[in-house]
Amino acid sequence: MLVSSPVELPVPSPVPSPVPSPVPSPGGSFAPSDVSPSVTSPFLQACRRGPAAHVPVWFMRQAGRSLPEYRALREGVPMLESCRRPELITEITLQPVRRYGVDAAIFFSDIVLPLAAIGVGIDIVAGVGPVVAEPVRSRADLDRLPPLEASHVPYVTEAVRALVAELGETPLIGFAGAPFTLASYLVEGGPSRDLTRTKALMYGDPELWAELLDRLAVISGEFLRVQAAAGARAVQLFDSWVGALPARDYRTYVRSASARALGLVGESHPDVPRIHFGVGTGELLCDMASAGTEVIGVDFRIPLDEASRRVGPDHAVQGNLDPALLFAPWPVLAERVRETVEAGRRTPGHIVNLGHGVPPAADPDVLARVVDLVHSL
Ligand code: CP3
Repeated sequence: MLVSSPVELPVPSPVPSPVPSPVPSPGGSFAPSDVSPSVTSPFLQACRRGPAAHVPVWFMRQAGRSLPEYRALREGVPMLESCRRPELITEITLQPVRRYGVDAAIFFSDIVLPLAAIGVGIDIVAGVGPVVAEPVRSRADLDRLPPLEASHVPYVTEAVRALVAELGETPLIGFAGAPFTLASYLVEGGPSRDLTRTKALMYGDPELWAELLDRLAVISGEFLRVQAAAGARAVQLFDSWVGALPARDYRTYVRSASARALGLVGESHPDVPRIHFGVGTGELLCDMASAGTEVIGVDFRIPLDEASRRVGPDHAVQGNLDPALLFAPWPVLAERVRETVEAGRRTPGHIVNLGHGVPPAADPDVLARVVDLVHSL
């Protein structure tokens, strides 16, 4: 049973309407003509670069510590444990949808969950992030990374199904960590500012690096597939820390693994748009877009229309308000929201989001105002 809430979902229809399966154009991206009139979600319309009924908006980390109702539910439950309980996952995922009326829900889980599910000793330490008991640094360590199977994560399938039924017309976004970002946690053993050990392995033993990324690509791609198979209507691949690399190294050491992860879900679920995002990736956007994605996520360091120019007309864009603006006076934030929406009108398709996740100290009332403003423009 869901934890009851006094607030109704904005779209209470319990049965999602059938989703048409547009045939992707040769580049892997949907052509605007693929947008069937029966796709009524503004978020999905924008992903497919078709006209949207209104400008869609959702926020990375919209579920989480910024919400008092999240903190109440999570009390006494360790982070990864909460990701294994379908009722908690479902309720936490729905909280921001109810509160804000955002145009998409994002599945509540974590990028390291599939690693824990295949038996890697990894935990999420509050205020620190993922910490790995035995870092991966040698060929023998690769044996600890078998392929992920749906049976490793039955609670994901169960929670996605329950969510899709609850959400009605509001699409659910599934997600996974990209091979580079997952590798950075596994090799470093935890969060790292400069990723020195990761880069040392990458430059020092390119063959081992390639095998590591290939194994992670299979895990990421399968995690996306499990969510799409259970009913997620879009997926996002988070390569949060890949902005630490120059473009030439991204192309040499990373892109093919990300392409493999994106290709796995693209092949089995061609009707599910893929979003590809990283922080500080202005110089990589073109190469990230070519890894096989319909939407490119943009952080706040480059203008949205410039990002769109870089990736070309075959991609929609998502972003890119600086999360720090949530702490600015309302007139300043409101002006930036208007500017972002205006810049988005000069792109083939735009989904408003932050340039990174909602900070835990953000005021939910400010996020609610941002959603209302975007929807009014
Ligand atoms: O609302 C959503 O966006 C869905 C949930 C979500 C979480 N993690 C829940 C979470 C998503 C999409 C993620 C992805 C994730 N996890 C990324 C990629 C996105 C990004 O921020 O770049 C990364 C790098 C991680 C790894 C990770 N997990 C970090 C760095 C942290 C923060 C550690 C801390 O305490 O500051 C986590 C923990 C985590 N994942 C929390 C949440 C809500 C906070 C833990 C808590 O609530 O106790």
